[in-house]
Amino acid sequence: MTTTILVSGGAFAPYDVVVGRGLLKAAGAEVAALKPTRAFIVSDETVAAIHGETVRASLAAAGLATGMVTVPAGEASKSFEQLEAVLDRLLVEGLDRKSMVVALGGGVVGDLAGLAAALFMRGIDFVQVPTTLLAQVDSSVGGKTAIDTPRGKNLIGAFHQPRRVLADIEALATLPVRQVRSGWAEVLKHGLICDAAFFDWLGGEGAAGASGDPDALERAVIRSVEIKAQIVGEDEKEAGRRALLNLGHTFGHALEAELAFGDTLTHGEAVALGCAMAFRYSAQQSLCSAAEAERAEAGIRAAGLPTRLSDVDHNFAADALIARMAGDKKAEGGRLTLILARAIGDVFTDKNVDAGAVRAFLIGEGAA
Ligand code: NAD
Ligand code: GLY
Repeated sequence: MTTTILVSGGAFAPYDVVVGRGLLKAAGAEVAALKPTRAFIVSDETVAAIHGETVRASLAAAGLATGMVTVPAGEASKSFEQLEAVLDRLLVEGLDRKSMVVALGGGVVGDLAGLAAALFMRGIDFVQVPTTLLAQVDSSVGGKTAIDTPRGKNLIGAFHQPRRVLADIEALATLPVRQVRSGWAEVLKHGLICDAAFFDWLGGEGAAGASGDPDALERAVIRSVEIKAQIVGEDEKEAGRRALLNLGHTFGHALEAELAFGDTLTHGEAVALGCAMAFRYSAQQSLCSAAEAERAEAGIRAAGLPTRLSDVDHNFAADALIARMAGDKKAEGGRLTLILARAIGDVFTDKNVDAGAVRAFLIGEGAA
Protein backbone atom coordinates (compact mmCIF):
# COMPACT_ATOMS: atom_id res chain seq x y z
CA MET A 1 0.00 0.00 0.00
CA THR A 2 1.29 3.44 -0.88
CA THR A 3 -0.03 6.94 -0.28
CA THR A 4 0.37 9.64 -2.90
CA ILE A 5 0.49 13.34 -2.05
CA LEU A 6 0.34 15.89 -4.86
CA VAL A 7 2.59 18.95 -4.63
CA SER A 8 1.01 21.68 -6.73
CA GLY A 9 -0.04 25.29 -6.76
CA GLY A 10 3.11 27.15 -7.74
CA ALA A 11 4.54 27.96 -11.14
CA PHE A 12 6.18 24.52 -11.20
CA ALA A 13 4.88 21.32 -12.80
CA PRO A 14 2.85 19.44 -10.16
CA TYR A 15 4.41 16.22 -8.90
CA ASP A 16 3.61 13.26 -6.69
CA VAL A 17 5.28 12.29 -3.44
CA VAL A 18 4.72 8.55 -3.01
CA VAL A 19 5.07 7.22 0.55
CA GLY A 20 5.03 3.51 1.36
CA ARG A 21 7.01 0.28 1.53
CA GLY A 22 8.98 -1.44 -1.23
CA LEU A 23 9.45 1.74 -3.24
CA LEU A 24 13.19 1.20 -3.76
CA LYS A 25 12.33 -2.04 -5.55
CA ALA A 26 9.59 -0.26 -7.52
CA ALA A 27 11.80 2.69 -8.47
CA GLY A 28 12.30 1.36 -12.01
CA ALA A 29 8.59 1.31 -12.84
CA GLU A 30 8.05 4.71 -11.17
CA VAL A 31 10.91 6.35 -13.08
CA ALA A 32 10.12 4.60 -16.40
CA ALA A 33 6.58 6.02 -16.20
CA LEU A 34 8.14 9.48 -16.61
CA LYS A 35 9.68 8.31 -19.91
CA PRO A 36 13.28 9.47 -19.64
CA THR A 37 15.86 8.41 -22.26
CA ARG A 38 17.89 6.97 -19.39
CA ALA A 39 18.24 7.22 -15.60
CA PHE A 40 21.44 7.90 -13.69
CA ILE A 41 21.75 7.44 -9.92
CA VAL A 42 23.59 9.94 -7.72
CA SER A 43 24.20 8.59 -4.22
CA ASP A 44 26.68 8.64 -1.36
CA GLU A 45 29.06 5.78 -0.61
CA THR A 46 27.16 4.61 2.50
CA VAL A 47 23.71 4.57 0.91
CA ALA A 48 25.02 3.14 -2.36
CA ALA A 49 26.54 0.19 -0.46
CA ILE A 50 23.22 -0.56 1.28
CA HIS A 51 20.53 0.33 -1.27
CA GLY A 52 22.31 1.18 -4.54
CA GLU A 53 22.05 -2.23 -6.16
CA THR A 54 18.33 -2.56 -5.37
CA VAL A 55 17.56 0.69 -7.18
CA ARG A 56 20.01 0.07 -10.03
CA ALA A 57 18.56 -3.40 -10.67
CA SER A 58 15.01 -2.02 -10.55
CA LEU A 59 15.83 0.69 -13.12
CA ALA A 60 17.52 -1.87 -15.38
CA ALA A 61 14.60 -4.30 -15.05
CA ALA A 62 12.28 -1.49 -16.19
CA GLY A 63 14.35 -1.27 -19.38
CA LEU A 64 16.24 1.90 -18.51
CA ALA A 65 19.91 2.32 -19.34
CA THR A 66 21.44 3.30 -16.03
CA GLY A 67 24.60 3.84 -13.99
CA MET A 68 25.65 5.43 -10.71
CA VAL A 69 28.05 8.03 -9.38
CA THR A 70 28.78 8.25 -5.65
CA VAL A 71 30.20 10.97 -3.42
CA PRO A 72 31.60 10.52 0.11
CA ALA A 73 28.88 10.48 2.80
CA GLY A 74 28.48 13.70 4.77
CA GLU A 75 27.86 17.43 4.53
CA ALA A 76 31.34 18.08 3.07
CA SER A 77 30.08 16.64 -0.24
CA LYS A 78 27.79 19.67 -0.73
CA SER A 79 30.80 21.38 -2.37
CA PHE A 80 31.81 22.87 -5.70
CA GLU A 81 34.32 20.04 -5.99
CA GLN A 82 31.72 17.26 -5.72
CA LEU A 83 29.22 19.20 -7.84
CA GLU A 84 31.81 19.43 -10.60
CA ALA A 85 32.67 15.74 -10.22
CA VAL A 86 28.99 14.74 -10.54
CA LEU A 87 28.38 17.03 -13.53
CA ASP A 88 31.53 15.78 -15.25
CA ARG A 89 30.40 12.19 -14.77
CA LEU A 90 26.99 12.99 -16.31
CA LEU A 91 28.81 14.44 -19.33
CA VAL A 92 31.19 11.49 -19.62
CA GLU A 93 28.23 9.09 -19.44
CA GLY A 94 26.59 10.96 -22.32
CA LEU A 95 23.36 11.95 -20.58
CA ASP A 96 21.08 14.15 -22.70
CA ARG A 97 18.32 16.68 -22.06
CA LYS A 98 15.73 13.94 -21.58
CA SER A 99 17.82 11.93 -19.12
CA MET A 100 16.77 11.63 -15.48
CA VAL A 101 18.91 12.03 -12.40
CA VAL A 102 17.86 9.77 -9.52
CA ALA A 103 18.96 11.21 -6.16
CA LEU A 104 19.30 8.22 -3.80
CA GLY A 105 20.24 9.25 -0.27
CA GLY A 106 19.70 11.79 2.47
CA GLY A 107 19.45 15.55 2.26
CA VAL A 108 23.08 15.91 1.23
CA VAL A 109 22.62 13.78 -1.88
CA GLY A 110 19.22 15.31 -2.66
CA ASP A 111 20.56 18.87 -2.45
CA LEU A 112 23.70 18.08 -4.48
CA ALA A 113 22.07 15.89 -7.14
CA GLY A 114 19.15 18.32 -7.45
CA LEU A 115 21.52 21.20 -8.10
CA ALA A 116 23.48 19.10 -10.61
CA ALA A 117 20.19 18.33 -12.40
CA ALA A 118 19.26 22.04 -12.34
CA LEU A 119 22.55 22.94 -14.02
CA PHE A 120 23.15 20.06 -16.43
CA MET A 121 22.33 21.26 -19.96
CA ARG A 122 20.44 24.17 -18.33
CA GLY A 123 18.25 21.80 -16.36
CA ILE A 124 17.13 18.19 -16.65
CA ASP A 125 14.54 16.25 -14.66
CA PHE A 126 15.29 14.46 -11.42
CA VAL A 127 13.56 12.10 -9.04
CA GLN A 128 14.17 12.15 -5.31
CA VAL A 129 14.52 8.81 -3.52
CA PRO A 130 15.10 10.01 0.06
CA THR A 131 16.61 7.46 2.45
CA THR A 132 16.76 9.47 5.70
CA LEU A 133 13.72 10.55 7.70
CA LEU A 134 14.85 14.17 7.41
CA ALA A 135 14.97 13.88 3.63
CA GLN A 136 11.58 12.14 3.45
CA VAL A 137 9.75 14.74 5.54
CA ASP A 138 11.62 17.85 4.49
CA SER A 139 14.48 18.16 2.00
CA SER A 140 13.14 15.98 -0.84
CA VAL A 141 9.94 18.04 -1.11
CA GLY A 142 9.87 21.66 -2.23
CA GLY A 143 12.65 22.03 -4.78
CA LYS A 144 15.35 23.74 -2.73
CA THR A 145 18.74 22.49 -3.93
CA ALA A 146 22.13 23.79 -2.83
CA ILE A 147 25.78 23.34 -1.97
CA ASP A 148 27.77 25.01 0.81
CA THR A 149 30.84 27.25 0.58
CA PRO A 150 33.37 28.11 3.29
CA ARG A 151 31.30 31.32 3.72
CA GLY A 152 28.17 29.45 4.76
CA LYS A 153 25.66 26.68 4.23
CA ASN A 154 23.31 26.44 1.23
CA LEU A 155 24.53 29.72 -0.25
CA ILE A 156 24.81 28.47 -3.84
CA GLY A 157 21.70 26.81 -5.17
CA ALA A 158 18.57 26.81 -7.26
CA PHE A 159 14.88 26.11 -6.98
CA HIS A 160 14.46 22.94 -9.03
CA GLN A 161 11.44 20.79 -8.25
CA PRO A 162 11.71 17.01 -8.63
CA ARG A 163 9.41 15.15 -11.06
CA ARG A 164 8.54 12.61 -8.37
CA VAL A 165 9.54 11.70 -4.81
CA LEU A 166 9.67 8.06 -3.67
CA ALA A 167 9.78 7.84 0.14
CA ASP A 168 10.31 4.20 1.08
CA ILE A 169 9.69 3.63 4.79
CA GLU A 170 11.65 0.35 4.58
CA ALA A 171 14.78 2.31 3.60
CA LEU A 172 14.72 3.86 7.09
CA ALA A 173 15.28 0.46 8.76
CA THR A 174 19.05 0.78 8.20
CA LEU A 175 19.25 4.37 9.46
CA PRO A 176 21.13 4.85 12.78
CA VAL A 177 18.67 5.75 15.56
CA ARG A 178 20.29 9.17 16.13
CA GLN A 179 19.52 10.00 12.49
CA VAL A 180 15.91 8.82 12.92
CA ARG A 181 15.53 11.09 15.95
CA SER A 182 17.05 13.98 14.03
CA GLY A 183 14.45 13.62 11.30
CA TRP A 184 11.79 13.31 14.00
CA ALA A 185 12.68 16.85 15.06
CA GLU A 186 11.50 18.13 11.66
CA VAL A 187 8.33 16.04 12.02
CA LEU A 188 7.64 17.61 15.43
CA LYS A 189 8.36 21.01 13.85
CA HIS A 190 5.55 20.47 11.33
CA GLY A 191 3.10 19.81 14.17
CA LEU A 192 4.30 22.86 16.07
CA ILE A 193 3.86 25.03 12.95
CA CYS A 194 0.30 24.18 12.01
CA ASP A 195 -1.19 20.98 13.43
CA ALA A 196 -1.59 20.72 17.21
CA ALA A 197 -3.47 17.41 16.97
CA PHE A 198 -0.57 15.92 14.97
CA PHE A 199 1.90 17.19 17.60
CA ASP A 200 -0.16 15.50 20.33
CA TRP A 201 -0.27 12.25 18.32
CA LEU A 202 3.52 12.36 17.89
CA GLY A 203 3.97 12.57 21.65
CA GLY A 204 1.34 9.88 22.36
CA GLU A 205 0.25 7.04 20.10
CA GLY A 206 2.85 7.88 17.45
CA ALA A 207 5.82 8.23 19.80
CA ALA A 208 7.35 4.90 18.76
CA GLY A 209 8.27 6.52 15.44
CA ALA A 210 11.09 8.40 17.13
CA SER A 211 12.83 5.09 17.73
CA GLY A 212 12.08 3.64 14.30
CA ASP A 213 8.65 1.94 14.46
CA PRO A 214 7.69 1.68 10.77
CA ASP A 215 3.92 2.13 11.18
CA ALA A 216 4.33 5.31 13.23
CA LEU A 217 7.04 6.52 10.86
CA GLU A 218 4.81 6.00 7.83
CA ARG A 219 1.97 8.01 9.32
CA ALA A 220 4.39 10.73 10.46
CA VAL A 221 5.98 10.97 7.00
CA ILE A 222 2.59 11.18 5.27
CA ARG A 223 1.30 13.99 7.51
CA SER A 224 4.60 15.87 7.32
CA VAL A 225 4.65 15.71 3.54
CA GLU A 226 1.02 16.88 3.39
CA ILE A 227 1.93 19.91 5.50
CA LYS A 228 5.08 20.71 3.54
CA ALA A 229 3.32 20.19 0.18
CA GLN A 230 0.59 22.63 1.13
CA ILE A 231 3.04 25.31 2.24
CA VAL A 232 5.30 24.89 -0.82
CA GLY A 233 2.24 24.99 -3.10
CA GLU A 234 1.25 28.33 -1.58
CA ASP A 235 4.71 29.89 -1.57
CA GLU A 236 7.35 28.11 -3.63
CA LYS A 237 10.02 30.83 -3.45
CA GLU A 238 9.60 31.68 0.26
CA ALA A 239 8.07 35.10 -0.20
CA GLY A 240 5.88 34.57 2.88
CA ARG A 241 4.34 31.47 4.44
CA ARG A 242 7.19 29.07 3.52
CA ALA A 243 9.40 30.94 5.99
CA LEU A 244 7.34 29.31 8.78
CA LEU A 245 9.21 26.08 7.97
CA ASN A 246 12.22 27.82 9.51
CA LEU A 247 10.71 27.49 13.01
CA GLY A 248 13.60 26.68 15.36
CA HIS A 249 16.15 27.22 12.59
CA THR A 250 17.43 30.71 13.50
CA PHE A 251 18.32 29.63 17.04
CA GLY A 252 19.32 26.16 15.82
CA HIS A 253 21.55 27.38 13.00
CA ALA A 254 23.36 29.75 15.37
CA LEU A 255 24.05 26.84 17.75
CA GLU A 256 25.27 24.62 14.89
CA ALA A 257 27.50 27.39 13.54
CA GLU A 258 29.03 27.99 16.99
CA LEU A 259 29.77 24.26 17.14
CA ALA A 260 31.36 24.46 13.66
CA PHE A 261 28.68 22.03 12.37
CA GLY A 262 30.47 19.16 14.15
CA ASP A 263 29.03 16.02 15.75
CA THR A 264 28.01 17.65 19.06
CA LEU A 265 24.56 18.49 17.65
CA THR A 266 23.01 17.07 14.48
CA HIS A 267 20.94 19.49 12.41
CA GLY A 268 17.73 17.92 13.72
CA GLU A 269 18.88 18.15 17.34
CA ALA A 270 19.70 21.82 16.81
CA VAL A 271 16.24 22.39 15.28
CA ALA A 272 14.59 20.61 18.23
CA LEU A 273 16.42 22.82 20.73
CA GLY A 274 15.73 25.86 18.55
CA CYS A 275 11.98 25.09 18.52
CA ALA A 276 11.91 24.80 22.32
CA MET A 277 13.78 28.12 22.56
CA ALA A 278 11.43 29.85 20.09
CA PHE A 279 8.45 28.77 22.22
CA ARG A 280 10.12 29.87 25.48
CA TYR A 281 11.06 33.24 23.95
CA SER A 282 7.46 33.62 22.74
CA ALA A 283 6.19 32.89 26.26
CA GLN A 284 8.66 35.36 27.77
CA GLN A 285 7.33 38.01 25.37
CA SER A 286 3.73 37.09 26.36
CA LEU A 287 2.96 35.99 22.81
CA CYS A 288 1.98 32.52 23.98
CA SER A 289 1.29 31.04 27.41
CA ALA A 290 4.03 29.50 29.55
CA ALA A 291 1.94 26.32 29.67
CA GLU A 292 2.04 26.08 25.87
CA ALA A 293 5.82 26.52 25.81
CA GLU A 294 6.14 23.81 28.48
CA ARG A 295 3.91 21.48 26.42
CA ALA A 296 6.07 22.08 23.33
CA GLU A 297 9.23 21.38 25.32
CA ALA A 298 7.79 18.22 26.91
CA GLY A 299 6.82 16.81 23.49
CA ILE A 300 10.30 17.44 22.09
CA ARG A 301 12.07 16.08 25.17
CA ALA A 302 9.90 12.94 25.19
CA ALA A 303 11.38 12.05 21.80
CA GLY A 304 14.88 12.07 23.31
CA LEU A 305 15.79 15.40 21.73
CA PRO A 306 17.52 18.32 23.47
CA THR A 307 15.48 21.32 24.65
CA ARG A 308 17.95 23.28 26.82
CA LEU A 309 21.40 24.79 26.26
CA SER A 310 22.49 22.76 29.29
CA ASP A 311 21.80 19.60 27.23
CA VAL A 312 24.76 20.55 25.02
CA ASP A 313 28.36 20.15 26.16
CA HIS A 314 29.47 23.66 25.17
CA ASN A 315 29.60 27.14 26.71
CA PHE A 316 27.67 29.42 24.34
CA ALA A 317 28.21 33.20 24.35
CA ALA A 318 25.07 35.30 23.84
CA ASP A 319 26.82 37.89 21.64
CA ALA A 320 28.28 35.24 19.36
CA LEU A 321 24.85 33.59 18.99
CA ILE A 322 23.19 36.94 18.21
CA ALA A 323 25.82 37.67 15.55
CA ARG A 324 25.16 34.26 13.98
CA MET A 325 21.40 34.82 14.12
CA ALA A 326 21.70 38.15 12.36
CA GLY A 327 24.12 36.85 9.77
CA ASP A 328 26.58 39.65 10.44
CA LYS A 329 28.62 41.04 13.29
CA LYS A 330 26.77 44.33 13.73
CA ALA A 331 23.45 43.02 14.91
CA GLU A 332 23.59 44.02 18.57
CA GLY A 333 20.94 46.65 19.03
CA GLY A 334 19.50 45.77 15.61
CA ARG A 335 16.50 43.70 14.58
CA LEU A 336 16.23 39.97 13.95
CA THR A 337 13.77 37.80 12.08
CA LEU A 338 12.33 34.92 14.10
CA ILE A 339 9.44 32.48 13.75
CA LEU A 340 7.48 32.91 16.98
CA ALA A 341 4.44 31.17 18.46
CA ARG A 342 0.96 32.10 19.66
CA ALA A 343 0.27 28.43 20.44
CA ILE A 344 1.23 24.94 19.30
CA GLY A 345 0.03 24.86 15.68
CA ASP A 346 -0.05 28.66 15.36
CA VAL A 347 3.26 30.34 14.50
CA PHE A 348 4.11 33.52 12.65
CA THR A 349 7.08 35.44 11.26
CA ASP A 350 8.32 38.47 13.21
CA LYS A 351 10.84 40.48 11.17
CA ASN A 352 11.27 43.09 13.86
CA VAL A 353 12.59 41.23 16.87
CA ASP A 354 14.72 43.30 19.24
CA ALA A 355 18.22 41.78 19.37
CA GLY A 356 18.66 43.19 22.92
CA ALA A 357 15.62 41.26 24.14
CA VAL A 358 16.92 38.06 22.52
CA ARG A 359 20.33 38.66 24.12
CA ALA A 360 18.72 38.94 27.57
CA PHE A 361 16.69 35.79 26.83
CA LEU A 362 19.85 33.88 25.83
CA ILE A 363 21.57 34.88 29.05
CA GLY A 364 18.50 33.66 30.94
CA GLU A 365 18.83 30.39 29.03
CA GLY A 366 22.38 29.93 30.36
CA ALA A 367 24.53 31.58 27.66
CA ALA A 368 27.45 33.70 28.91
P1 NAD B 1 22.79 13.08 5.11
O1 NAD B 1 22.31 13.11 3.73
O2 NAD B 1 24.21 13.45 5.37
O3 NAD B 1 22.52 11.62 5.72
C1 NAD B 1 22.92 11.36 7.04
C2 NAD B 1 23.79 10.11 7.10
O4 NAD B 1 22.95 8.96 6.96
C3 NAD B 1 24.83 10.00 5.99
O5 NAD B 1 26.01 9.47 6.53
C4 NAD B 1 24.22 9.00 5.02
O6 NAD B 1 25.20 8.28 4.29
C5 NAD B 1 23.46 8.09 5.95
N1 NAD B 1 22.30 7.43 5.39
C6 NAD B 1 21.38 7.96 4.56
N2 NAD B 1 20.39 7.09 4.35
C7 NAD B 1 20.70 5.97 5.05
C8 NAD B 1 20.05 4.74 5.25
N3 NAD B 1 18.85 4.49 4.73
N4 NAD B 1 20.67 3.81 6.02
C9 NAD B 1 21.87 4.08 6.61
N5 NAD B 1 22.53 5.24 6.47
C10 NAD B 1 21.93 6.19 5.71
O7 NAD B 1 21.94 14.02 6.08
P2 NAD B 1 20.37 14.38 6.15
O8 NAD B 1 20.12 14.62 7.58
O9 NAD B 1 19.52 13.42 5.41
O10 NAD B 1 20.29 15.77 5.36
C11 NAD B 1 20.97 16.92 5.81
C12 NAD B 1 21.11 17.87 4.65
O11 NAD B 1 19.82 18.22 4.18
C13 NAD B 1 21.81 19.17 5.01
O12 NAD B 1 22.80 19.44 4.05
C14 NAD B 1 20.71 20.21 4.94
O13 NAD B 1 21.19 21.48 4.54
C15 NAD B 1 19.81 19.60 3.90
N6 NAD B 1 18.42 20.07 3.96
C16 NAD B 1 17.86 20.54 2.83
C17 NAD B 1 16.54 20.98 2.83
C18 NAD B 1 15.90 21.42 1.54
O14 NAD B 1 14.77 21.93 1.58
N7 NAD B 1 16.55 21.25 0.40
C19 NAD B 1 15.78 20.92 4.00
C20 NAD B 1 16.39 20.43 5.16
C21 NAD B 1 17.71 19.99 5.12
N1 GLY C 1 13.40 23.31 4.84
C1 GLY C 1 12.79 24.58 4.64
C2 GLY C 1 12.14 24.72 3.31
O1 GLY C 1 12.09 23.78 2.54
O2 GLY C 1 11.68 25.77 2.99
